[in-house]
Amino acid sequence: MADDGDCVGNLWVQLVAMPRICFWSSIVTKLNLVILLLFITSFSSCLNDRVAEFALTKKEEGDLKEQNKEELEVIEEEEEVLDSEDLEVFYPTNQWQTVRPGQAIPAGLHVQLNLQTGEKLAKLPDDYKEKSDTKDSPTSKRLGQIDIDPNSFTTQELKRALAKMKETTKADDTPEEKAHREDIRRRFRPIEKLKEEFRELNLQLETDLEIMLKLINKFNNSASTLEEKITALSDLEYYVHQVDNAKDLLSLGGLQLLINGLNSSEPLMKEYASFVLGAALSSNPRVQVAAIQGGALQKLLVILATDQSSAVKKKALFALSSMLRHFPYAQQQFLKLGGLQVLRNLCTEKGMEILYIRTVTLLYDLVVEKQLIKNSDDKDEAHEKTQQYSQVNLMPAIVEQGWCTIISNLLKTPEHDSREKVLKTVHVLLAFCKDAYAGDPTLNHVLSLLRQEYEELAEEEQKEGDEDGYFKELLHSINSIAQQLK
Ligand SMILES: *[C@@H]1O[C@H](CO)[C@@H](O)[C@H](O)[C@H]1NC(C)=O
Ligand SMILES: *[C@@H]1O[C@H](CO)[C@@H](O)[C@H](O)[C@H]1NC(C)=O
Repeated sequence: MADDGDCVGNLWVQLVAMPRICFWSSIVTKLNLVILLLFITSFSSCLNDRVAEFALTKKEEGDLKEQNKEELEVIEEEEEVLDSEDLEVFYPTNQWQTVRPGQAIPAGLHVQLNLQTGEKLAKLPDDYKEKSDTKDSPTSKRLGQIDIDPNSFTTQELKRALAKMKETTKADDTPEEKAHREDIRRRFRPIEKLKEEFRELNLQLETDLEIMLKLINKFNNSASTLEEKITALSDLEYYVHQVDNAKDLLSLGGLQLLINGLNSSEPLMKEYASFVLGAALSSNPRVQVAAIQGGALQKLLVILATDQSSAVKKKALFALSSMLRHFPYAQQQFLKLGGLQVLRNLCTEKGMEILYIRTVTLLYDLVVEKQLIKNSDDKDEAHEKTQQYSQVNLMPAIVEQGWCTIISNLLKTPEHDSREKVLKTVHVLLAFCKDAYAGDPTLNHVLSLLRQEYEELAEEEQKEGDEDGYFKELLHSINSIAQQLK
């Protein structure tokens, strides 16, 4: 779902609608939202201390109750609109897909609900494939079974019916009312029975931890096929974006399994192990420390230094970036292990063009990171960090290895966005690369070409009423570099 470092910053409720619901699948299908509603209502009082059971991947625990209330309202509003669209059906796959309002969801799916936006995602459970493999009809149909019987009740009718069932039978019912209630009773279980089901369902709600454990076991199981292992990894990637989940990955022993996967003989395994690792490492010092102790840095550098596809190297570079950012010790080790040479070769390797700018961006980030620490306001922290960063002799190595020219040559790239990144990097390198740049006729030529191009673009931009536009900014950056090179 998310590319590389993108994080899912929202609140999600995750629940696994277990196959047992199929028994009353007609209710579930039509009343999927109502179930969630009842479900949240009946447990909201103890929600805060049962967060784990709801598998809430949460950011701000304190606001949960408030958000749930909002969510209930959203759901109820949606309900009103839904009835006319009852027949629209959601077709699940192995991937998370957004469930549009009004779509009926078959029982047995993984369902996630975003508590902030109300967006709902669903996909087939991971073991779905095995089941459908063993037999096509009628078992495989069971999970995907969707009740679109037009004679079944609408959600509104059901709600009313359920409300009625709650009342004890009144003596003065008309025969019609009695018959009607009997009819409903025959088709649906009374509310107490439903509540019982909900309680059982609650026990089957899986926490992130349990899901991750399953995925790790799937990945670690020698009986799993390569495809199953890769699927487990790609599911795992989703979870480890959360800082706490990434820590759990560590305590469950999953991190070392990932590191071991980096030197698997299967390219796909290398790729996905890097992908999950990169997500787990992002802004997570504890995982960063454990990963470097587990030998991840060496293995990532081996991937980047050897003959691999650009897809594999792309993810390895992503993991390396997550490993190095804000972790001076890793940066120091990286330099010791010859990591900068590895990246240099990558940046001149044919077929790896898509990685050139990413590599330059990583270097830019590392250089700026060190500079920012020096200028930090917090003196104590600055002192401590400055100590650590003083061991990272990045700039001399950059100059020595000829990066100045490698980077400035990338200004020839046609994309504005890439040029912007290169310009920024050239800018921070200027003071150190002066010798290399001052007498470089190619750089001067490229800069004057770029200036021409952006003067025109900036002018058009201005005509369209954009005073401080993107192109003007690029032009400014080019002029500033040219000025300093004089
Ligand atoms: C992976 O499997 C091996 C062998 O079955 C087992 O010894 C090890 O504990 C497992 N590791 C994890 C993290 O589950
Ligand atoms: C991966 O590296 C570890 C040591 O770091 C080694 O024990 C293992 O055999 C290697 N696996 C492969 C497939 O080369």
